[in-house]
Amino acid sequence: MSTVAQKQLPLRPAGPATVQRLLDWYDAERRDLPWRKPPGKRADAYRVWLSEIMLQQTTVKAVIPYYLDFLKRWPSVKKLAQADLDEVLAAWAGLGYYTRARNLHKCAQVVAEEHKGRFPRTEKELIKLPGIGPYTAAAIAAIAFGEKSAPVDGNIERVVSRLFALQLPLPAAKPEIKRYAETMVPGDRPGDFAQAMMDLGATVCTPKRPSCLTCPLQGDCHASAKGIAGELPRRAAKAERPTRYTHAFVGLREDGHILLRRRPNAGLLGGMREVPSTDWIAQRISTKKAVKGVPLSVEWWLVPGVVTHTFTHFRLELQVHLAIVATDTPLNLWADPERCSWVSRHELDGAALPSVMRKVIGHALKAQDG
Ligand code: ADE
Ligand code: SF4
Repeated sequence: MSTVAQKQLPLRPAGPATVQRLLDWYDAERRDLPWRKPPGKRADAYRVWLSEIMLQQTTVKAVIPYYLDFLKRWPSVKKLAQADLDEVLAAWAGLGYYTRARNLHKCAQVVAEEHKGRFPRTEKELIKLPGIGPYTAAAIAAIAFGEKSAPVDGNIERVVSRLFALQLPLPAAKPEIKRYAETMVPGDRPGDFAQAMMDLGATVCTPKRPSCLTCPLQGDCHASAKGIAGELPRRAAKAERPTRYTHAFVGLREDGHILLRRRPNAGLLGGMREVPSTDWIAQRISTKKAVKGVPLSVEWWLVPGVVTHTFTHFRLELQVHLAIVATDTPLNLWADPERCSWVSRHELDGAALPSVMRKVIGHALKAQDG
């Protein structure tokens, strides 16, 4: 196999013929995903919207069971609009980034109340809805309504920057990548084109070792011809994630109930339940200082080891304390008693409890059982 010979092949520009090769490949190799309709058929906007919101920052594999569960519970946007927010948040638990779930619910209400239960059909209108940004608006417009729009997600970003061998690093390269993507969108199948690019990026044009030899676009691809596919897209060096520290207090009542507190609606994990914890700050504080803010005035046991959790913008390190208390133990006033409640262990499964807090409870209970 002579790579030299390959390099000498004349490059075809990424024009209509390139796009047609991609669509032919998609027709044969497309992933069979539950929110997709057969090639050429338009999918229902509610399903497209629901899947696209879930797929933001989450993998296809992780999303599928949640998507099917949501669709079963709330088969239409009107049903979702009428749902209880807590139920939606609980069904969402595990997908992370709960702002997405609150916006999902809010968006369903806006569509139900202000658009008679029908999603607007253009990118320009879709982007006005809660939780729908430029990518999602373009994706829904293309996939559900056949608008000639160019959604650019991480996969498409990678494929485009390779096809055209774009050297500018991300994130500065984003507008340029979007312009190149727009030049490729075919008027007759914009939704299939977008999803074909996503599939190519997910299965062939993968981040570290793209399978150029089996790629339908190899003859069109400038990065492959230059032998630099694996190096693209370039990225500006990014700042390291800072660490924040906290002490979390797992109050376990004799009857097995656990003390949880509801977080404020605004901000990270807004409105979710949590194990009461001290402020999440840049320095470790001592146990002696931390226990001044405990929700229950009892003896706390420091569980050995720490729990860590990675959020988008920081890493959190939690020291976990456990106390087993009598059922009539009063709550301290500074713990915000009206935000607190005792939740039984089996209710925890359905509670809107973020993964980090599940880890904390697991850590405490495992130490106690073991
Ligand atoms: N990632 C985001 N949207 C997607 C879609 N419609 N198909 C596959 N992967 C996706
Ligand atoms: Fe990606 Fe290689 Fe295909 Fe180019 S030839 S699009 S780099 S897999």
